[in-house]
Amino acid sequence: MTSLILHFFIAAVSCSVLATATINAGGTWSLLRSTIGITAMHMQLLPNDRVLIYDRTDFGESNISLADGKCRRDPNDNVLKKDCTAHSVEYDVASNTIRPLMVLTDVWCSSGALMPDATVVQTGGFNDGDHVVRVFNSCDTCDWEELKSGLIKRRWYATNHILPGGRQIIIGGRRQFNYEFFPKISSSEKAYSLPFLVQTNDPKLENNLYPFVFLNPDGKLFIFANNRAILFDYSRNKVVKTFPMIPGGEPRNYPSTGSGVLLPLRIVQGTVSVVEVLVCGGAPKGAFVNAQNGKFNDALNTCGRIRISDPNPQWVMETMPLARVMGDMLLLPNGDVLIINGGSSGTAGWEYGRNPVLNPVLYKPDCQPDVRFEIQDPSTIPRMYHSTAILIRDGRVLVGGSNPHIYYNFTNVLYPTELSLEAFSPPYLDPQLSDLRPTIIFPDPQTRFGYRDLTTIRFTVSGTLFPHLVSVTMVAPSFNTHSFSMNQRLLILDSGNGIRAVGNSMYEAVVTAPPSGNIAPAGYYLLFVVHRQIPSEGIWVQIG
Ligand SMILES: *[C@@H]1O[C@H](CO)[C@@H](O)[C@H](O)[C@H]1NC(C)=O
Ligand SMILES: *[C@@H]1O[C@H](CO)[C@@H](O)[C@H](O)[C@H]1NC(C)=O
Repeated sequence: MTSLILHFFIAAVSCSVLATATINAGGTWSLLRSTIGITAMHMQLLPNDRVLIYDRTDFGESNISLADGKCRRDPNDNVLKKDCTAHSVEYDVASNTIRPLMVLTDVWCSSGALMPDATVVQTGGFNDGDHVVRVFNSCDTCDWEELKSGLIKRRWYATNHILPGGRQIIIGGRRQFNYEFFPKISSSEKAYSLPFLVQTNDPKLENNLYPFVFLNPDGKLFIFANNRAILFDYSRNKVVKTFPMIPGGEPRNYPSTGSGVLLPLRIVQGTVSVVEVLVCGGAPKGAFVNAQNGKFNDALNTCGRIRISDPNPQWVMETMPLARVMGDMLLLPNGDVLIINGGSSGTAGWEYGRNPVLNPVLYKPDCQPDVRFEIQDPSTIPRMYHSTAILIRDGRVLVGGSNPHIYYNFTNVLYPTELSLEAFSPPYLDPQLSDLRPTIIFPDPQTRFGYRDLTTIRFTVSGTLFPHLVSVTMVAPSFNTHSFSMNQRLLILDSGNGIRAVGNSMYEAVVTAPPSGNIAPAGYYLLFVVHRQIPSEGIWVQIG
């Protein structure tokens, strides 16, 4: 009972006017670059504040040349056997510059993750790239490398997740009703079948590609595909729980692309007792076939929220202020969910989306249902199929891409290929809030914590501090493509005895690092101090 009261008290406080001090409630947009040379179809933030971006190789010539007059010769390429343009770039947030990179085989509609050693391991793609595993190291001169050992199955539209042991699991993909791991433990390790992907696959409509996968704090995987979800023990190839169908039964995965997040995990005395998943938007059953016939269905305007830690979990439905297909859902450092990009009719797929939704929407999970959603100010640039969004260290959200055509078509098409990169600054970045914004003084960036380490976080706040409205959060840098962010998770650390003043405008919180790899797989995270829902700039830390 006591913990229940405490929970409601925290929820009520974090949504009160006092807690959420905002001035310009609509956020702001800025155009960072009118062109990055390619269309940002896949994005991953690296721990050196660069962003790895790529589209596909068989698109024709991009708007950026490879370095030093290099060219890629690929006899298998469907469009250009010799291509002297880049289809991947590295974007440097601090200098707002780009560097062309060379991918060797086709990476279209693939997946990946940032590994604990700061390399990106990317898997699959199309054509000659569909079995390939590629590595990108985070360094100033690094470029893509293709590994000799590839995938057992072709992976196109698969979802990857980092596992507690440091490997990746790669789930599904087109006509692949199975999963495999990378790296392999032994040469005899195979792909394992996953009948759930057959059960959720409508052979004509698919609707279960890029499944939404989250690591549950019990070490099992929550897998949502089409309109259903399971809890899956990948180590025993066993479904341990089947969740009810999302009410209404409409599909939420590609090409009826909605999105999903694991809501913030609050660690209290070494455990996470409440685990919730939120799935929003998508397109109704048949929308893809209808779009092929020139009929563009209204996108779904509902979200389903489910407390997967309950003994008998049930979906609770909510209505978004704006219907959306191909929307991205991003966890912001303060625990809010940003819903951004996409359209209000049609589906994912070439030329099948209509009516861009230019306004992002904030979802505040702890607020009462009637005040959870807040419409944000609009961008001017449609971000349709193949658009992306990621959180960066300073709390802004990078938005790029949109390419609903096979080529880089800029004219004679409904939504031109978008080479631009924008930043959306959520309302918490309003300069008028600067006296409430924490600045982290200690620990130093790149500090490594062990599981359960007690760690002192020192920060300043120049205005009045409300100690009970301070929290310390950690956000994993996710791999974003096709409106889904793989490996996305936000942890609210246990700050035990609260906050103490240690000098003029200087404070300390002693927090406990996450307890295990099930709650926080080893690797890089962004750590933030949040005061009255306003996050500090993040610092990179390592766990494990
Ligand atoms: C990229 O586009 C700009 C403006 O649209 C153009 O001036 C430039 O020549 C293009 N560069 C390449 C390498 O295609
Ligand atoms: C798109 O670009 C390709 C390659 O340049 C061209 O063949 C095709 O006709 C273009 N499509 C449209 C609708 O302009």
